Amino acid sequence: MLATISQLTIGVVDLAAAFLFMYGLLRMASPVTAPSGIFVAGLGMLGAVVASFLYAFSVSAAAEPHLLVNVGLALVALVIGGGAAWWSGRKVPLTAMPQMVALYNGMGGGAAGAIAAVELFGNKTTGATDLVVTLLGALIGAVSLSGSLIAWAKLDGVIDKPLRVRGQQAINGLVMLVTLAVGGYIVFVAQTGADPVMLMPGSIYLFFGCALVFGVLMTLPIGGADMPVVISIYNAFTGLAVGLEGFVLQNPALMIAGMVVGAAGLLLTLLMAKAMNRSVSNVVFTNFGAASKHKQGAIKGELKPMAAGDAGIAMRYAASVIIVPGYGLAVAQGQQKLYEFVKLLQAGGVAVKFAVHPVAGRMPGQMDVLLAEAGVPYDLIFQLEDINDDFSTTDVALVIGANDVVNPAARTDRSSPIFGMPILNADKAKKVLVVKRGEGKGYAGIVNGLFYGDNCNMVYGDAQAVLIKMIEAVRGLGLPAAA
Ligand code: TAP
Repeated sequence: MLATISQLTIGVVDLAAAFLFMYGLLRMASPVTAPSGIFVAGLGMLGAVVASFLYAFSVSAAAEPHLLVNVGLALVALVIGGGAAWWSGRKVPLTAMPQMVALYNGMGGGAAGAIAAVELFGNKTTGATDLVVTLLGALIGAVSLSGSLIAWAKLDGVIDKPLRVRGQQAINGLVMLVTLAVGGYIVFVAQTGADPVMLMPGSIYLFFGCALVFGVLMTLPIGGADMPVVISIYNAFTGLAVGLEGFVLQNPALMIAGMVVGAAGLLLTLLMAKAMNRSVSNVVFTNFGAASKHKQGAIKGELKPMAAGDAGIAMRYAASVIIVPGYGLAVAQGQQKLYEFVKLLQAGGVAVKFAVHPVAGRMPGQMDVLLAEAGVPYDLIFQLEDINDDFSTTDVALVIGANDVVNPAARTDRSSPIFGMPILNADKAKKVLVVKRGEGKGYAGIVNGLFYGDNCNMVYGDAQAVLIKMIEAVRGLGLPAAA
């Protein structure tokens, strides 16, 4: 009786969790509703986790003697995992978010692989279909685990160079072939009625080992800067692996959550690739930006420095300013000072808008999150397609810590690695002010002709330090700028 009630409760909670995941995801589509979306999805996850303890009421007679120990272990794992997530979630700076996502993603893949390992070593899967699905989930989960860990190491600077060897693709192909052959062997042995674990436990170890090695080999040659797209691909993998293992366990919450994560990861990968005008295979197989073979034509003009204070005052006397934030703003953590400066301009009657490029920064939505963190109202923030026409009628475009997303070569230079990528039309503004530390290139590793334009001045310095000087200069004017 208790077993039936607990099973029923698990079913209802899992179904509710699946709806909450999807509803949460829907709300994450806009920065206005995203925080509540995350909360709603988290609530679903909490419900599913708590409900899973109800399985304790319906374990088999063979498992009963281990019940207390297993529930205890699950609680210990929850406290350690939940505690670590809580701590790191509060501590991690926004610029280190991609690393954190890579780690969490790896854990998801590892969890799917672990479920498969329990099934395989416990010889619990019956039937060829179940076994194939389990092995597929194991393969994808293990690749995602080791690949995500390499992605984390690259993003964190632990590995600072793409590691390539001659014949890399052939080696990768060979490792994948061996993995598939071992998987096929396991299925074959199981079909003969023999217990594959008894017959040859080594084959299961070999299968996992090869899959893990494949994840490492596949990720090592990819440039560190391409890691956000790679993580997104692994995110799709992890979702798929979890979904497959959910099928094996006949757990609907796991199936739906896995498929939602997988589909979201896939869409995100495609969106990122599209916004960069690159194919996914170009990301995975090309060492983008680093040691670019692209030959840039001679760029005419010169770089014209301007003092931060003068730039601040120029904007104070402008009628309209569009701000283009980029990766450097996140590095400098200048978002609070930026909004303080914007409030001063607004108090002086300047119309200010923010223009956000879909791949500005190093992860999707990074600029939206950065500006939201500083309290910038959403109605001041515009996406590329909604604001691009406004630049030509705007007095000043303030490009702060951005580079590639305003590089006109994307429009004009067919040989450029970013040719075809939609860019923000900052060069069309009457005046362009660019804040950056020096002559450092952007992610694509190419020179930016915008900086040499007649209408452009360079304001050198760390974005936050520059903004502090701009604020001081505008306050020094003593105009009605007491925001
Ligand atoms: P980038 O092109 O990377 O340029 C950032 C600029 O910020 C650099 O030129 C750098 O110049 C400057 N900078 C760095 N630290 C700074 C600081 N403390 N203060 C002031 N400036 C600083 O950035 P972007 O324009 O945002 O473009 C993003 C690039 O990343 C695109 O090429 C995009 O395709 C790529 N990407 C994006 C994503 C996602 S999803 N967002 C994922 C993968 C790749 P200095 O060194 O001279 O200061």
